[in-house]
Amino acid sequence: MTTQDRINDYWTGRAPSYAAYQLQPQRLVDDIAAWSKVWAGALPLPVGDVLDVGTGSGQVASILAGLGHRVTGIDLSLGMLDQARAAYPGPDFRLGDAVAPDFPPASFDAVTGRYVMWTLRDPALAVQNWMRLLRPGGTIAVVDSTWFPHGPQDFYDPSVWAALPLAQAADINQTAAVLSGAGLRDVTVTPLTTIHELDEKYGVAPNHEVQMQYLITGHL
Ligand SMILES: C[S@@+](CC[C@H](N)C(=O)[O-])C[C@H]1O[C@@H](n2cnc3c(N)ncnc32)[C@H](O)[C@@H]1O
Repeated sequence: MTTQDRINDYWTGRAPSYAAYQLQPQRLVDDIAAWSKVWAGALPLPVGDVLDVGTGSGQVASILAGLGHRVTGIDLSLGMLDQARAAYPGPDFRLGDAVAPDFPPASFDAVTGRYVMWTLRDPALAVQNWMRLLRPGGTIAVVDSTWFPHGPQDFYDPSVWAALPLAQAADINQTAAVLSGAGLRDVTVTPLTTIHELDEKYGVAPNHEVQMQYLITGHL
């Protein structure tokens, strides 16, 4: 079994509870309002073609579609894709590897990924591949945090933790450095204070702690 197989199995096992957590009624209303502002700021109009990598249960893809974008969401967890397709009819959800997405060059205006950079087996290669999918002037916009300040948690096998370059990042600038190292322009790190307030109000997912989340953007 490969590292990626182990990651996929974990997320498929967790998919029903992950989706249910995001679909709690009051939280959902507040999340959609807050995250719509985050993504509208990250990807200003005009409407474009957006690839959401590691789309999981589909919330980001749905919000981007709600903003008018044409959205494709890819994930390697079949369980997560089932949840996404059941909850959100708008985006095109497909099986696909975030590290090596299989699309023609210049297919998208933007690539997004929330809570994905930390769990990629090769984030630097992934960003290089995303850049090839972008049209001139395109945007990469990811959200992540330094989720695990107390070290590896037991939901992943130790061999998986050891294989993930950003899983134990102590500083969000390590994630930003992957975008700038790939050659993206104007890499910007923005703390998401509105999301932090929501996390303090509602709590965070199991195995996580309330942490400041950051939007990191860069342009081709
Ligand atoms: C923490 S979840 C985030 C889900 C979603 N982006 C969100 O914001 O709720 C991480 C997701 O990344 C997916 N993932 C991890 N590695 C992947 C890869 N190489 N290719 C595609 N999806 C991957 C997992 O299956 C899981 O759905």
